[in-house]
Amino acid sequence: MIDVFASADVVLAAQKIAAGEVIGLPTETVYGLAADAQNPQAVARIFALKHRPASHPLITHIAAEANIHYWLDEARMTADMTDIMNTLIDAFWPGPLTLVLPKSPAINDAVTGGQDTIALRCPDHALAQSVLHALSQLHNTPHVGIAAPSANRFGRVSPTHAQHVRDEFNGQVWVLDGDASVIGIESTIIDLTRGAPVLLRHGHITPDDIFDVTGLQPLPNDTHSPRASGTLLAHYAPATPLVWASAATALADAGCLCFSNEFDVTPFKQVIQLDDQPKNYARGLYHALRELDRAAHAQIVVEDLPVDSAWDAVRDRLKRAIVGSNEGK
Ligand code: TXA
Ligand code: MG
Repeated sequence: MIDVFASADVVLAAQKIAAGEVIGLPTETVYGLAADAQNPQAVARIFALKHRPASHPLITHIAAEANIHYWLDEARMTADMTDIMNTLIDAFWPGPLTLVLPKSPAINDAVTGGQDTIALRCPDHALAQSVLHALSQLHNTPHVGIAAPSANRFGRVSPTHAQHVRDEFNGQVWVLDGDASVIGIESTIIDLTRGAPVLLRHGHITPDDIFDVTGLQPLPNDTHSPRASGTLLAHYAPATPLVWASAATALADAGCLCFSNEFDVTPFKQVIQLDDQPKNYARGLYHALRELDRAAHAQIVVEDLPVDSAWDAVRDRLKRAIVGSNEGK
């Protein structure tokens, strides 16, 4: 068995991050474009590589044993907020849940796009955790963070394999290879700074999961703030126009993405069938979109999803991908 803590690649990854470089980092959700969260020049390189507007804040990844309070402004933490935060961390960290909290004034603004809140996540991936440990040793402090948005150009499909990241940046970015991401879609984001928990982005952890542990149903994000790029309507988009099967008119030269055995695949040049369980479907979604996109069909037809909240995270990604892929066409 490989000891990931001692692996040469993990050490190299941490050395690169400590030196201010940007690398591809595996996590359980999607691959991240990773840099030292406390190095503003390194964080600026992420924005440049991604072509991401500087006002879009990044998620900071911390180790499982990190002291979260280092990153927070205790003066703005209410007792309720602290309780809910602790409950969610106990239940879901390490894991695919990002928490937005009041940022300590001591943390530089580069990573948060100048906002007074910070998005924190503890990734459930042995390599990501090992890189955090190694970085902590190199910097000789437990207070290290890795800023990492999804490792795709702004608005495009997120990567779930090391090769996706290499493809996306034409080999410009060194990638720590950690196999396929097991969750397959980005983390759930919950904002705890607005009184009641607000759901900023759907993910593997559902509003019902949050309710089960906190007794609180997260509120929908009604502010239309551009703060979460995953909330922009045109996002996660392939280059090929995507269309729901129910809205498709021409089916010539099309690929299709389906999940049920009842779906008629005979008209399509290429067929990718994903699992009929939403969490398994999510795991394969981005790889499937990239494969279909690569074939450069005239369009990609997507089987309509079941009307069931268990599909919300997948539906959300596909809706945005449909809008984004048809923009300007
Ligand atoms: O699963 C994930 O979360 C992946 C992996 C790499 O960890 N990361 C990811 O990062 O999806 P990114 O940058 O593509 O999405 C982060 C989202 C963005 O939509 C960003 O605007 C939002 O988090 N965000 C970050 N800080 C925030 C803050 N202070 N307030 C509100 N939204 C914030
Ligand atoms: Mg992203």
